[in-house]
Amino acid sequence: MKPIEWLGNKIKIVDQTQLPGKLVFVELRSYTEVVAAIKALKVRGAPAIGVAAAYGIALGARDIKAKNKAKFLSRLDKILQSFAASRPTAVNLFRAIDRMEKAATAADFGTIKQALIDEAKAIHADEQAATERLSRIGAGLIKDGFVVLTHCNAGPLATAGYGTALGVIKAAAEQGKKIQVIATETRPLLQGARLTAWELMQEDIPVTLITDSMAGYFINRGKVNCVLLGADRIAANGDTANKIGSYTLAVLAKENGIPFYVAAPTSTIDLSLKSGDQIPIEERNPEEVTSIGGIRLAPKGVTAANPAFDVTPHKYITAIITEKGIVKEPYANSLKRVIIEK
Ligand code: MRU
Repeated sequence: MKPIEWLGNKIKIVDQTQLPGKLVFVELRSYTEVVAAIKALKVRGAPAIGVAAAYGIALGARDIKAKNKAKFLSRLDKILQSFAASRPTAVNLFRAIDRMEKAATAADFGTIKQALIDEAKAIHADEQAATERLSRIGAGLIKDGFVVLTHCNAGPLATAGYGTALGVIKAAAEQGKKIQVIATETRPLLQGARLTAWELMQEDIPVTLITDSMAGYFINRGKVNCVLLGADRIAANGDTANKIGSYTLAVLAKENGIPFYVAAPTSTIDLSLKSGDQIPIEERNPEEVTSIGGIRLAPKGVTAANPAFDVTPHKYITAIITEKGIVKEPYANSLKRVIIEK
């Protein structure tokens, strides 16, 4: 199953909003359809958003009619801007936009469209390779018999690759270790209940679903060996933005003396931001909180807040697992090292 596939003149994606009820593939034929799919979370998860945007930019570029390179680049810029405005938190999106812009600028006028297709494929291949590698590296931290608590969804769907947090779990299971997973449902949009539970069941990895508010109960009773999740943006000092509720889990992990691991490709690291305070946090429609699956639960007219991510300060993070190795405090040095390293 390929969560994102480039078909030459269109992109095929799994519509993640319909899982687990239906496995529906949708074809996106224009860049505006790709932007809309990202906004609607049909394609979601930091690395997957970057990959989808890269292919979307290549699709948009295909339809540009321009007499010279300068005109082409100015029309391309409009496309890049619409992707940049689709979701603010996951830095993989901005990294992909940046790579696509550089590829267009470097290419000769006659070859720009092909150069953009090639770059989008390269971004996809890089994320696949990085997530597979980090998963194998991270598996070393997961011992036989571990119960791992994860949050949100950080598997193949979220990465268009092997997965980050779920990739580490899969790789540990492939090594023959007996791993059990506790997955939080992840309100409001239930990425844990809908997607993580589904992906782990596909892999025959035992999973127990809990509501977000049950995490403390299980951790405090010694039922969890480590917390392991993905990331949307990691600042230069190691502060990490991930799905809302991650910070709560980090504090619980520290209080109860269990490790809190973040698994992410280096494309999720943003050295331009000194700390997590500077990470933009997406605010989504409050209706996602007042309703579940389109069914209203809260009284009409109630005020609801819906920040989609929170930031875990680096002091709570035991280690960050990347494709270039496992990094620990002091993150300001170790993250810089993995970014610079080829
Ligand atoms: O709003 P989402 O579903 O795109 O949020 C995704 C997450 O927070 C994931 O945990 C994160 O992107 C890591 S994905 C490998």
